[in-house]
Amino acid sequence: MSNAPRTEEDAEYKKLCENHKHLIETLPKCNGWWTPHLHNYNGFWLSPDILKANLLLHTYFKSHPTDIFLASFMKSGTTWLKALVFSTLNRHCYTFSDHYLHKHNPHSAFSPLDAESYPITDFTNSSTPRVFSTHFTRTMLPACMSSCKFVYVCRDPKDVLISMWHFMNKIRSKDLPPLSLDEAFELFCLGVSDYGPFWEQVLSYWSASLEYPDKILFLKYEDMKKEPEVVVKKLAAFVGKPITVEEEEKGVVREIVKLCSFENLSNLEVNKEGFEKFGRLVNIEKRDFFRKGVIGDWKNYLTKEMKERIDGITAQKFKGSGLIFTATG
Ligand code: A3P
Repeated sequence: MSNAPRTEEDAEYKKLCENHKHLIETLPKCNGWWTPHLHNYNGFWLSPDILKANLLLHTYFKSHPTDIFLASFMKSGTTWLKALVFSTLNRHCYTFSDHYLHKHNPHSAFSPLDAESYPITDFTNSSTPRVFSTHFTRTMLPACMSSCKFVYVCRDPKDVLISMWHFMNKIRSKDLPPLSLDEAFELFCLGVSDYGPFWEQVLSYWSASLEYPDKILFLKYEDMKKEPEVVVKKLAAFVGKPITVEEEEKGVVREIVKLCSFENLSNLEVNKEGFEKFGRLVNIEKRDFFRKGVIGDWKNYLTKEMKERIDGITAQKFKGSGLIFTATG
């Protein structure tokens, strides 16, 4: 952010925003999930404000070699990943009986790049390593970030769809009618959802993780549910703070898993009341980050035909990539 102007009145900044506005007006658009429209930019669908944030990111964001980015498609386990990474990285700063996460929603631990208040935000005082979250596809990120470490979490698209449909109806503009599941399903299958198409976004990180395995840790929500302790150990090693034998014996991994579990986080008072602000874009009720936190809730919503259609798209898009989702029914 070194060259970022400090005020929104900066003439160059205003000119840039004006150019972005004109660019966005020329882009193809489609019905949105929580905003009236999504715009297609370089093959991906974004709401106008998130797209503006992406364009500004390219001008103003300067990565540091030690930065870590937590990337995901929406509703794939970002909240959980933030909690796990925060408590793993900072395990020497807090006790498990008096922890930052007892008093703060996991989203407040790390800044989301996608909704940042450019050009005002100044990350220079952030601790090292700086950690950010993003839902942008890998190909939409500034080139300077490509040498940094990423942790990516993906999830069965059927569960992503159902989670996203519930969530979007919560944050959807009250001026719009509720989004029906049929419409959400159709849009999702066509790739038209915030940050979508889902499959291309996942593949952008998957292929990068094959090419740069020491730079991108690719996780699956389903594996995290099944073997959270294994994942915590992987995360710790990846961020350069491996769990020691002594820590393991003292039960540190178990404590991190317990602290960040759906049951624990969703029952904390701090996550039941109030809002989490994402840059200047949107206020989200903290309780809306926690719904069921299970694998396979799609079975309660999707017909056999819907399931087969999504599975068919997944099989076709991921064919030959080596990426396989554990069957959830
Ligand atoms: P469901 O809607 O299926 O319950 P994100 O954090 O990327 O927005 O993803 C939200 C999804 O993760 C929601 O899924 C939410 O309930 C679930 N989730 C939130 N915290 C979790 C945790 N600690 N463990 C497991 N799942 C969690």
